[in-house]
Amino acid sequence: MNPLHWPVRMHIASVGVSKFCFLFSLVFCGLLLLLIPALQPPARQVDLPQPRPQVRPTHASPSHHAGVPVVSVHVGELDSATGLNRSSAVPRGSIEADITRNDNHSHKKGMDSQGGALHGGNGGRLSGSRSEDLLELKDIFIAVKTTRKYHKSRLELLIHTWVSQAKEQTYIFTDGEDKELLMRTGTDIINTNCSAAHTRQALCCKMSVEYDKFIESQKKWFCHVDDDNYVILPSLLRLLSSYHHSQDVYLGRPSLDHPIEAAERVKSDGSVSVKFWFATGGAGFCISRGLALKMSPWASLGNFISTAEKIRLPDDCTIGYIIEALLEVTLTHTHLFHSHLENLQKLPTDTVLEQVTLSYGGFENRRNVVSIVGGFSLAEDPTRFKTVHCLLYPHTDWCPKLKPRYKN
Ligand SMILES: *[C@@H]1O[C@H](CO)[C@@H](O)[C@H](O)[C@H]1NC(C)=O
Ligand SMILES: *[C@@H]1O[C@H](CO)[C@@H](O)[C@H](O)[C@H]1NC(C)=O
Repeated sequence: MNPLHWPVRMHIASVGVSKFCFLFSLVFCGLLLLLIPALQPPARQVDLPQPRPQVRPTHASPSHHAGVPVVSVHVGELDSATGLNRSSAVPRGSIEADITRNDNHSHKKGMDSQGGALHGGNGGRLSGSRSEDLLELKDIFIAVKTTRKYHKSRLELLIHTWVSQAKEQTYIFTDGEDKELLMRTGTDIINTNCSAAHTRQALCCKMSVEYDKFIESQKKWFCHVDDDNYVILPSLLRLLSSYHHSQDVYLGRPSLDHPIEAAERVKSDGSVSVKFWFATGGAGFCISRGLALKMSPWASLGNFISTAEKIRLPDDCTIGYIIEALLEVTLTHTHLFHSHLENLQKLPTDTVLEQVTLSYGGFENRRNVVSIVGGFSLAEDPTRFKTVHCLLYPHTDWCPKLKPRYKN
């Protein structure tokens, strides 16, 4: 019969143990075999592809928590796309290409199709991701650079508008005491003790303090804006959600259509030159925490000022120099950031609320503002910031009660 039984049975017979015991041990062995997969260390199962619930549609829908939309992003998406190498932001290329494409062809769906392309492009590689990272407004450090002279004429407008929606994460960097302002706003106002002059040294001094405060804050993203920028917070959150803060990410608008060239005086004696892109400070820019930490040797505790002095360039160029020339991380060009140096009227009206930052023309160019229609006339709201704000947050107490015209 079964050849297996013979030697065993003979053995059993010789010891005198019952047949029942033998059968019992066979059954036991069988059970043990069945149990082996279940006894494997659980870590193995993480590697197996597992379908992930689609989080995006529920969170991305404009369900505001006290005016703060929550947008979710999967860490794993980005990590798996880089082959779990977090030190380099590989998907940047695709995002960059995508942003460029959106800018060239249609501003309309800029943000949506960007998110869509990113998710779609890595959709097949979602498996294996362990944690899920929900970026929230409180994870972003927003530095506003101003000067004492503009507290009334510029800062007040920001404090009444977008800063009021991001009090906890906005830090105002100025150069003079203003107790009255401090009392009226719930935001952090930091006196940098830097000179109020609009010189390279003074500007770099402020950027240096901004950098140090950001590192201290433990927040995930550093964003710098000027006191003539309106930050569209939901768009900012959406944009940053497509990246991970541990990647090397430097996002902004180049002010030139070519890289800047400077004499290399940090890594060499200045006899060779370096070319690099930089994001114009007047439009605002963002840096991930991962990248900001790597900048530390040239940026922390006053080193930023000495780096800027060595290459003799302004603050925003110095940031670009440290990131592109020294760290060899490329600027991700985005056209969602805007400075007063652009023709802002050219921004299609139906895309204004999808931008990340806006600006307005100064003294010499008062009519350079975004074209948007809402509750305020051009005379009542020359910068258009109040109009933008009321379209974004119609329930604000000072907003006109009439229904915004851009929707329904
Ligand atoms: C990650 O990628 C970078 C650039 O491709 C490479 O230099 C680095 O060695 C990689 N790190 C790991 C841990 O694989
Ligand atoms: C500026 O000076 C004041 C008074 O000396 C000090 O309390 C404050 O910490 C200084 N600010 C910075 C950013 O160092």
